[in-house]
Amino acid sequence: MVTRIDSPADVSPQQQAVEQTLVDTVVASFDHCEDPRLRQVMVSLTTHLHAFVRDVRLTEPEWNRAVEFLTAAGHITDDVRQEFVLLSDVLGASMQTVNINHQAYENATESTVFGPFFVEDSPAIEQGEDMGFGAPGEPCWVEGSVRDTNGNLLAGARIEVWEADEDGLYDVQYDADKRAARAHLFSAADGSFRFWGLTPTPYPIPNDGPVGKMLDAVGRSPLRASHLHFMVTHDDARTLVTHIFPEGDPIGYGDSVFGVKESLIKHFEQQPVGTKTPDGRVVDGTWSRVRFDIVLVPAAQD
Ligand code: BEZ
Ligand code: FE
Repeated sequence: MVTRIDSPADVSPQQQAVEQTLVDTVVASFDHCEDPRLRQVMVSLTTHLHAFVRDVRLTEPEWNRAVEFLTAAGHITDDVRQEFVLLSDVLGASMQTVNINHQAYENATESTVFGPFFVEDSPAIEQGEDMGFGAPGEPCWVEGSVRDTNGNLLAGARIEVWEADEDGLYDVQYDADKRAARAHLFSAADGSFRFWGLTPTPYPIPNDGPVGKMLDAVGRSPLRASHLHFMVTHDDARTLVTHIFPEGDPIGYGDSVFGVKESLIKHFEQQPVGTKTPDGRVVDGTWSRVRFDIVLVPAAQD
């Protein structure tokens, strides 16, 4: 009978040598790769993968389970559902890639995950118009400015905004083919912008697939902290992909994809029923307002 070895510390020197020889052979198999970056990535990937397999003393049923998991992720993936990106998101790999590629720069607004719900053909709105397009939720007046880290106000920046409605759904998840709670507008001559959106509320990431099952198995919530997405582009600046998160989120900041950054938590000021709106719009119930001053990295830094 083969005794199950549970700890790497229990592995005999002889067995360790067998395992290390395999790692060395696999690493050497990339010696003739002509693309140095590809070689670096493959060597590092296989080295870490073997370290993981050896560290947990992976069993064959566990290896089979991993293959089944990846197969299920492949089966549920199509043009609109990307389970592998979701897997990367919930393991923090997406956010770590953002951290590495969009490092803090002076007082520039920080970046966070892109997420799967951006669409290219969002409706255009003018300053002060409503990006909700009838999506359910509490109205929220959003205003701010776009400038660069040198303090120059940026006119004509394209501001894409999108968010889930109060039922936790993006328009692309509706049965009907409809655009709602998303739009784009351009910053005005003085760099300012304003529009009506919805007060963000928490919602679950798609959790009816293998990633959802994995979160369940490890006792993790699929909820994302409440947020409003922004993507801001301007010829003279680096593109910014970010969100803003309301202060005092009912679920706290325990975000399922680790996207929350302290600097992106904003005060959404609740307005009691009957409070006058900035543009004279009549709102039946409560509404909220938030200010977001966006600072972009000048393109010269690229
Ligand atoms: C989102 O915010 O839209 C999102 C981000 C990552 C995974 C799922 C959803
Ligand atoms: Fe989102």
